[in-house]
Amino acid sequence: MTYTSTTLVTALEEAVNAFWRQTRWFHEPLTVGRARMFVLQHRLNTRYRNSVLKLRVASQIPHWDLRMGLLRAVSQEVVADQEYGRGKPHWQILKELGLAIGLTEAEIENARPLPSTRLAWLAWEGLMSNHHWLEGIVASTVAERINVPGCGEGEIRERGWFAVERWHWKDLFGLSDEQLWFFDMHGDADKEHSALGFEAVARYATELGMEEAVLAAAQDTLGIWTLYLNGISAGGDALDRELAGYAS
Ligand SMILES: [Fe+2]
Ligand SMILES: [Fe+2]
Repeated sequence: MTYTSTTLVTALEEAVNAFWRQTRWFHEPLTVGRARMFVLQHRLNTRYRNSVLKLRVASQIPHWDLRMGLLRAVSQEVVADQEYGRGKPHWQILKELGLAIGLTEAEIENARPLPSTRLAWLAWEGLMSNHHWLEGIVASTVAERINVPGCGEGEIRERGWFAVERWHWKDLFGLSDEQLWFFDMHGDADKEHSALGFEAVARYATELGMEEAVLAAAQDTLGIWTLYLNGISAGGDALDRELAGYAS
């Protein structure tokens, strides 16, 4: 199949739609265990992806502006976000969300990655360390598109995942707007983060003859996100059984 940059971007969006269809989290209710597991795993995940994997990608990007764009996103996640995060890195904001839903500092800080999280990291490492930089950018940014309106169906398509997700957390835990800030700040942050990848693809994929490779990288990385998020759903269900007093 021959792609123009426009049809390739459409194909990437279709890959995000498939990710939405095949991932449990987007179709099942939030529970206390799932929410807690999300915080525990996602804090680890954002730290690892941004302090290790995306840095490797950035070091391979030959275009200065693009490299700096990725490093800017990385530093918002793990160092300090002056633009959207009131000076805090995103993992710190996520930790505060965890404390608001009843996790302790020790539980958050001592959390270990689930086996599914570890497998996801290993799989992403393949895509983000040993592939062309453009595939690395796609692996770094394409999933953040789900937080921008236009993918999936229904409310998520209209408003983006986190804009919908915040209401589930509000309903379940009665959180204030202040406590839900992790979700609210991500609309704008991820518009910028995902645009970086989509613009890089539109600009360079055809010139490099990498349309198919870029699309495969998007499908692979989104498949890994499904594995990772389904692991959180399953781990959260186990936590719910523990909380209810059953052996899991
Ligand atoms: Fe973030
Ligand atoms: Fe982001």
